[in-house]
Amino acid sequence: MKYVLGVDLGTSSVKVLLVNQEGKVSGEATREYPLSHPQAGYSEQNPEDWVTGTVAAVKEVVTTSQVDPASIEGMSFSGQMHGLVLLNEEGNSLRPAILWNDTRTTAQCRQIEEKLGNHLIEIAKNKALEGFTLPKILWVQEHEPEIFAKATTFVLPKDYLRYRLTGALHMDYSDAAGTLLLDVAKKEWSTVICEEFSIPTSLCPPLIESHQYTGNVLSEVAAEMGLTENTKVFAGGADNACGALGAGIVNDEAAMCSIGTSGVFLSYEENGEQDFDGVVHFFNHGKPSSFYTMGVTLAAGHSLNWFKKTFAKEQSFEDLLEEASSVSVGAKGLLFTPYIVGERTPYADALIRGSFIGIDDTHTLPYFTRAVLEGITFSLKDSLELMRTVGKKDIKKIVSIGGGAKSDLWLQMQADIFDATIIKLTSEQGPGLGAAMLAAVGSGWFDTFDTCAQVFVQHEKEYQPNAENVETYQQVYKIYQEVYENTKGLNEKLYAFR
Ligand code: XUL
Repeated sequence: MKYVLGVDLGTSSVKVLLVNQEGKVSGEATREYPLSHPQAGYSEQNPEDWVTGTVAAVKEVVTTSQVDPASIEGMSFSGQMHGLVLLNEEGNSLRPAILWNDTRTTAQCRQIEEKLGNHLIEIAKNKALEGFTLPKILWVQEHEPEIFAKATTFVLPKDYLRYRLTGALHMDYSDAAGTLLLDVAKKEWSTVICEEFSIPTSLCPPLIESHQYTGNVLSEVAAEMGLTENTKVFAGGADNACGALGAGIVNDEAAMCSIGTSGVFLSYEENGEQDFDGVVHFFNHGKPSSFYTMGVTLAAGHSLNWFKKTFAKEQSFEDLLEEASSVSVGAKGLLFTPYIVGERTPYADALIRGSFIGIDDTHTLPYFTRAVLEGITFSLKDSLELMRTVGKKDIKKIVSIGGGAKSDLWLQMQADIFDATIIKLTSEQGPGLGAAMLAAVGSGWFDTFDTCAQVFVQHEKEYQPNAENVETYQQVYKIYQEVYENTKGLNEKLYAFR
């Protein structure tokens, strides 16, 4: 049997999967690393921790699985997006990485909008958000000019990791799309954007496809990891692109809803020339010549965790959800908006905060739990509706992954709120499986991502929308949509007291 490694370089940990030619996971290991917040709103990581964690996790997988290291043909990566790593001429990192969830760059975002106007959406297809990479580069240019002067290349987290394993510098299109420096449709660095901000194009690494070969593992690193030097390394992709691959989103048959700490609604696209005016993210996919639109709910699972921690600490999630399943659709007039850390889609608004609307003295804990689940799902429906209306997509099937796919109640609720068939996967492995698929296609096991997905991704169960519930939710959703405008001004005033 032959194997590949899928390395999922996340924000709090790296998870390594060993996957065989049948798409079955034969071993896995995880290593955590810290996040540092040197000031409010700052979020940084030491790139060296990614390397140390990955080497240790690969070593553990190879040792515990007891497979012949010579049978591990390839490895590839899924990476947390947008994080800025600046390298000097010797390839050393010049400062801690500034991560996707760092919010120090509001001023730089306004500057980008002012200078680029419509060109930003025309070229980069996305709005300037604090999390993206270009605002971070501008922040370093302005606040740490001595560091910027020494920088010869910038890379993203998984590119740095790959560079340390192979000695070669590259960036794949799916991750480059999240920098705001890529001409997304043309698949080349934008000289217009680089020139506007005095960023030498030489700072941008060579671009490649996600499944493209980048080199073999360096001999000393291979020895440390328990691999042979024959293991080939393939570029890898952005975590959302890899999550989509791992859920089988390689064609228009189904969209994806992922409910983790944050929530993502994602739809496959083939036309790179489309213009969504930045209302949803538009990025290159890990599969060549394809793209995806994506909407993000910042606090999806995070809202449920917050709710449980604050109001039902002693209860298990299973009990909470079980009780919520006895409550009628619409939680008897109780509405929740999950804006507890601000929101991204459809309102890029850092100041908005959550609400419970319609509290009645008959509402007990299960009603609140149900309202939280419904509110998170309504927020993801906001993204789905943008794809249906602005994107003119006819979305009838949705693969559900993450925490939201662990409960029958929540899966049926998604079917009813989204008015679509919800698909649950047999064995859900997340972005790490997408990374393994990149290595599998790169290694020549499959000619296309479609054939790879047929082997690697299996459907377990479908949930069909219930017509009566769909009707009720359509009415409640209309009211949900009014909450944002009606609470925006209030939250702006309340900001002074936070
Ligand atoms: C996407 C985004 C997050 C990160 C998390 O735009 O900011 O999903 O990719 O790693």
